[in-house]
Amino acid sequence: MRDFDGRDGIMLFGGIPVTEIAEEFGTPVYVTDESRLRENYRRIYGAFSKHMDTKIHYACKANTSLAILKILEGEGSGIDAVSVGEVMTCIKAGFTPDRIMYTGVNASNEELAAVTELGVTVNIDSVSALERLSKIKTGLPVSFRITPGVGSGHSDKVITGSKGSKFGIPDKSVIKTYIRAKELGFEPKGIHAHIGSGGQSAEPFSDELEVLIGYTNELKDLGIDLDFIDIGGGIGVPYRPNEPEMDIDELGASLTEMILEETDVRTIILEPGRYIVCDTTVLLTRCIDVKDAGTKKYVGVDAGFNTLIRPAMYDAYHHVALGNKFGKACTAKYDVAGPICESGDYLAHDRALPNPEEGDTVVVYNAGAYGFSMSSNYNSRPLCREVLIGGGRAELIRDSECIEEQWRHQRIPERLIR
Ligand code: LLP
Repeated sequence: MRDFDGRDGIMLFGGIPVTEIAEEFGTPVYVTDESRLRENYRRIYGAFSKHMDTKIHYACKANTSLAILKILEGEGSGIDAVSVGEVMTCIKAGFTPDRIMYTGVNASNEELAAVTELGVTVNIDSVSALERLSKIKTGLPVSFRITPGVGSGHSDKVITGSKGSKFGIPDKSVIKTYIRAKELGFEPKGIHAHIGSGGQSAEPFSDELEVLIGYTNELKDLGIDLDFIDIGGGIGVPYRPNEPEMDIDELGASLTEMILEETDVRTIILEPGRYIVCDTTVLLTRCIDVKDAGTKKYVGVDAGFNTLIRPAMYDAYHHVALGNKFGKACTAKYDVAGPICESGDYLAHDRALPNPEEGDTVVVYNAGAYGFSMSSNYNSRPLCREVLIGGGRAELIRDSECIEEQWRHQRIPERLIR
């Protein structure tokens, strides 16, 4: 987990006291550090590109904020998109369609038509999608997502590559599908898999790559030469204090060596989401209420699972600190709970905190990946603000919604109006 500095007991984020940011922009607010974002991108790109031609397709589902996309566009990233909405958002941020690959699961004909119309490469997830796409447009360069039979992830809910998964083309159909694609007039350019998200071990990536290499060489023997192997995303990051980081240089060296030694493919694509954005961002939330419930003590804050769903949904650990009592001695253990009317609405369980009081600025770490992008209007709460810290300044990159926006698409039938 990333460490932060403090000054006079106040935590600094991007060089600015978090209390000032919370004061200026209100809470809850997601705050992103631009320099860390650039560093993360450069670190992962460098770890692979020093060995072979590398394309980073940032998995924008982790965070689709336009300002963040714009920064990554400037860094030279490509995009892994899963919906027409993501494709259009990335185009809006300045990505040209040739830098975007669409990997939809259960993609409808309408979506396939829309993304091909926009000119992005389609990574096909099933035989059905191949046949349906051929009726919309053929002659396209395509890639296929296969089920590698290798899964990894921080929770069962995010493991995607195991045998029997809903994702990808199963083992027995892979070669037949490439042959069929050629018959239909497509140009197969690559092969893709994604094992899952947030795994912290390198081994599943090499197991996955071994499977991809096997197919690549089998296809070559059949006269189908691929340009790229796409290993998907899923590289985990440490969420807990003192948790080790994955050795990204070692991963880059070993995976590229496998491709270079065992195949004729000379381009690797990877699709990190979490690795690029996770530790760039904190969520600032305000302590509203402190309660001693006898068997438990609570810090009640103004961000619930409407703002950050990961703890409630995956039991995910997010470190919390009091930004205005930074480094102070902890007095007791608390659950940090939000304003949503469900007992499952919490951000953290059993955390030692330094005498929390109403008004304290609570900092939730590692909130950049699947934070804002999974937030919702549940309990009719507006989506919150986002701020970017860059060049020593804090700037609003997304304003909070107003309540009226939640009514915008609703209609009350005339007969109900008296
Ligand atoms: N590529 C594909 C095809 C994916 O499905 C995903 C994530 C990624 C890349 C990026 O994975 P990453 O590098 O971010 O681990 N909401 C969950 C994570 C779901 C990930 C879904 N697919 C969470 O909050 O942990």
